[in-house]
This record gives sequence, structure tokens and C-alpha cells, in this order.
Amino acid sequence: MCGIVGYIGKQKAAPVILEGLKRLEYRGYDSAGVATLVDGRFELAKKAGRVEGLILSTPAQRLPGTTGIGHTRWATHGGVTDANAHPHLSSDGRMALIHNGVIENYASLKKFLVGKGYTFKSETDTEVLCNLIAYHYQKEPATSEGSRFMESVRKSLRHVDGTYGIAVMCTDCPAEIIAARKGSPLILGVGDGEYMLASDVSAIISRTQNVVYLKDGEMAHLTAGNFAITTLGAEDVSPVFDTVTWRVEDAELNGYAHFMEKEIFEQPDALENSMRGRFAEDGSTAQFGGLNLTAVDFRQIDRVHLLACGSAWHSCLVAEYLIERFARVPVDVDYASEFRYRNTPLGRNTLFFTISQSGETIDTLAALREAKRKGYKVLAVSNVVGSTIAREADGGVYQHVGPEIGVASTKAFTSQLLLGAMLALYIGRMRDMSFSDGSAYVQALKGVPNLVRQTLLLAPQLKAVARRYAHFHDFLFLGRLSLFPIALEGALKLKEISYIHAEGYPAAEMKHGPIALISEQCPSVFLVPSGEMFHKVVSSMQEIKARKGPVIAIAAEGCDLPAGLADEVVRIPECHEAVLPIIATIPVQLLSYYIAAELGRDVDKPRNLAKSVTVE
Ligand code: AGP
Repeated sequence: MCGIVGYIGKQKAAPVILEGLKRLEYRGYDSAGVATLVDGRFELAKKAGRVEGLILSTPAQRLPGTTGIGHTRWATHGGVTDANAHPHLSSDGRMALIHNGVIENYASLKKFLVGKGYTFKSETDTEVLCNLIAYHYQKEPATSEGSRFMESVRKSLRHVDGTYGIAVMCTDCPAEIIAARKGSPLILGVGDGEYMLASDVSAIISRTQNVVYLKDGEMAHLTAGNFAITTLGAEDVSPVFDTVTWRVEDAELNGYAHFMEKEIFEQPDALENSMRGRFAEDGSTAQFGGLNLTAVDFRQIDRVHLLACGSAWHSCLVAEYLIERFARVPVDVDYASEFRYRNTPLGRNTLFFTISQSGETIDTLAALREAKRKGYKVLAVSNVVGSTIAREADGGVYQHVGPEIGVASTKAFTSQLLLGAMLALYIGRMRDMSFSDGSAYVQALKGVPNLVRQTLLLAPQLKAVARRYAHFHDFLFLGRLSLFPIALEGALKLKEISYIHAEGYPAAEMKHGPIALISEQCPSVFLVPSGEMFHKVVSSMQEIKARKGPVIAIAAEGCDLPAGLADEVVRIPECHEAVLPIIATIPVQLLSYYIAAELGRDVDKPRNLAKSVTVE
């Protein structure tokens, strides 16, 4: 996934674009570049490395011109090199293009273009599209430059298989940018006498809150004083304006060392926002405004199917446990990337949910489309208003936790856990859950922000534990039932930001193989619930201890752990079983964050990762 920015207006384009690229770097940060158009020629600055490096190492800020495009890359085709950085220029020098997505038939198109005499400087699929547009342009009858430009882009995109969010400039059209999207997000910002294009709102929020979300198959034609939207088939589209509710400071560090740290500590307020207005007046159940299904529809449902990737998939495993526990409705959970090709036999009355913070994860979007193709209703849980998944679903629930900039998901993940628990309540109260049980459940949910605040007070202890354990190279994370997915999440967090190998397992499963890994060099993090599973988990801890494995216990306050069993004991507050996964998540987030910080890792932009994976 990459970040793209375009600007056309009264100010110098380069500084505006570079500022926007800095806010998009969490989408990809292998290389960056900016191109402006002035006096019929392109001014170009691009290189491997971060946006900051581009700003410092070349006169990028000083590029002339009030029309420009910029890009920050997450490599798909071609290595991380200056030549592969975007923007790309056509070999005849007429077109400059930036692209987010994958052109699947780029090899055949490249072969055709080489045959027409076009040359290539990079290994990218994007340069192929750039030359293709130049090819169609030189073939297009010279009626009026603008429409000739537009038609050459249109014709080129009709030959493309794959996904794209693009912005392109032409030397013959000095104050124009053409944009188009298919499978990759693209937003148009309408400012005061200026227009911006961006992959998401964080790049334009400082200049305007007035946006138009382009839909798949749409194109935008920006000029100095106007814009028009059409379909790839050249039909006019009336723009639908939206107002972004995020504020600039939501996408700023505000004194924290990293966005991940800020977003961990934002969770009490973020979870408050996720719940706001979502409890029924009688206080015994949840309510959602956007499900677009009646209670009667929900009564017909006899199965729920959850689709997601990564951390969002972990949240589905918790939702599965809670919906089956409290609503007595069977649940299936699939990796979105697997569901699409598994061809699972499905019942008639299954309700699908996709869970996706970004709302742009291509595997989850493809799974949504597959379920809809089979005639099922699909509801989306997402954090980005107007995202592709949110718009293609039949309804859903926005998370409302504000922009999550850190690549490692934290507040969005606990919000997904919270909303999963609320859905379990909502469906349960349509079935056998009593008024009093529902009311108690609601009170437990309302108490989550304060319980999270209380648990965040453990940060200094987790920081000290992190210092003692940051040098290990292998970890096991172990939990049972609704805490097993939190063990998976803890392992993922540690892997993705500290680059330390970690695995999550059901605690009892550890003796069926992973126990072979145990030594003094392989710590185990146990999530220890009170109640019936307590003694079972203690037995697993003893098996580890007997083999000299270091044990870190994250245990509910009421647990009476045998003395000396754990090398570290972190106490989390007792709570209702529906919210225990949320509370247990806080220490594993803090542990992974402090270990990564201790190791000096780039916590917000870990190597090889991107915030939302819009390539399959
Ligand atoms: C989480 O820490 C990861 N960054 C990643 O697993 C993420 O959860 C996954 O890519 C799904 O993203 P989405 O929620 O935006 O669909």
C-alpha cells in the first residue's frame, strides 16, 4: 500500500505535497518523491528512504509550480531504489504519474510498449501505466488538450487489470491533474481555491474538511478553478460532499514518543467514543444505527460469519467466543484471504461481518464481495468513514476511535473487541439473555474506559519488565478461551514492532509441541484468568517452570498464584468476562511497545510493514 497526494491551487505545490506525504508515511515508507509542472516541463525530486530524507537531501521544498503530485511507496513490483520511486515520467517526457495498487497485466503491456519504442528506467508496474497513457495520448486526435489528456487516461485504464489509485499530469495541460481509482482509496479535498487528492484524509485535514470520496471506477479531472467527476465510461457523476470530523491534532504526536504510545494511552477516550450513543434507553442492551437490519431480520439469523485479517482477525476470535457464550448463535471465523478461495458450504441464514480498521484491506474487501456475490448480507466494522469496505457493505458500525497512525493496531483493536462484545449483547438480548443479565453486561461495558485507565497505570511496571526481557529472541504467549486470541495478539504485536520471534497458543496446547522450545532463553507470557480455568493455566505455568522457562504472568487481581511460580506478575483488575480480553490486551500492548522502544526500533513504521495492505 502507498500514499499519494496531489495539489492544484494558488500556493507552491511541493511544500503542501511533502507535508501531506509525511502524514501518509504510515501507508508505506520505502521511498518518496514529488513532481511539479511548470512552464510545460516537470520538476522532479525522488529517492529511496523516508519523506524526511527527501525533504532534507534535495531542493524538494523549493520545486516551482502550483500543480504537483507526490508519493510515498511500499514496494510491490521492483526493489527499494531511487529509480523505482514515484512519480514516474513517460519516456517521451509528457506524462508524470503516481500510483497506489498493483497492475496485474503490466508485463504484457510493457512488452507491447517496448514494441512501440517506449523505454523504461524502473522495474515498476507504474511506469508501464505512465508510458501507456503517453502512448494513447500521442495517438489521440488533438481536439482540445484537456479532453485529449482525459481520453488517453480513460483508454489506458480500460486496458489495466488490477487495482489503482492514480494521479497523472501532462506537460501539454499546465494546470490539470487527472485522478482515478479502482480498489485503492482516493479522496478529493475541496479547499479555498485549491483542490487536493490523497489516499486518506490525514493528508488533507490541515487544509480542508470538505471532501469527496471517489468510488471505484470513477475519475476526477482537476483544473485550476474547478473539478469534475466522471465514470471510466465517461458518464458524469454528481459529487457527494462529506465533512471530515477528524481534527489536525488527532494526527499529531502531542508530546508522545510514538503514535503507538499515544494511541495506547488514548484508549480510554477512544473506547468511550466507540460506545457513545450505543446503549438502549432501558439500559439492558446495545443499539446500533447503521446495521440496516430489523430485529426480525436478526431473529432469522442462525449463524454469524466473521472475516478479517491480522489483529482484526484476532478480534473476531474473541467475538466468536462472546457471541456463542452470550447469544448462543454459532459463529465461524475466517481469514479473509482464505475465505475467498475455500468455497465453504454456507447456510441460508448466515450474517457476515467484515472487521477492518482501515476499511481498505484488499483481502477483506475481496471476501466481502465474495459473500455478497453469494447473496449474503455483509455488515462492516470499520474505523474509516467512507472507506471502500464501509461503502460496499450492507451496513455496519463505525469504530469512531480517530485516526490510528501507528502501523501496529492498538486502540482500533480494543475498539473491535468492545464492539464485538456489544454485538454479542445485542444479539443475545434478542434471544435468551435476560433483562438483568443484559443490564449487568451494559454496566460492565460502560466501566471499560475506567478499567483501561486503571490498567494503564501498570505502564511503569511493564516498562521495567520490558527492560529485563528485551534481549530474548523467542517468546511464547499463552492464554485460554477468550484470552487465547489475546495471546495471539500479544505475539503479533511483539513480532511486528520489535522483530522478535513470538508465537501465541492456547495454554493447554503448549504441551503438544511448543514446549520443546522452552528453555531459559524462551520466556512465556501467560494470560491468567480467575475462575474455572485458573488452575488449568497454573498447571501449564508449572510445566514451563519445571523446564526452567521464564514465566511472565498477566493475572487477574483475585488469582492466588503459587509463590515463586512466575518470575514476573502483572496484576490486572477483576472484571466481567465479556470485557476481560480488552483489559488483558493493555499489558501485552505495553510490553511489546516498551521492548521495541528499548531496542530502538522504528515503532510507528516497522520494517516491511504498512498500515493497510491494499495488495493481495
Ligand atoms: C495489526 O497490528 C497489523 N498492523 C495488521 O495485522 C492489521 O491488523 C491487518 O493488516 C488488518 O488491517 P485492517 O484492520 O485495516 O483491515
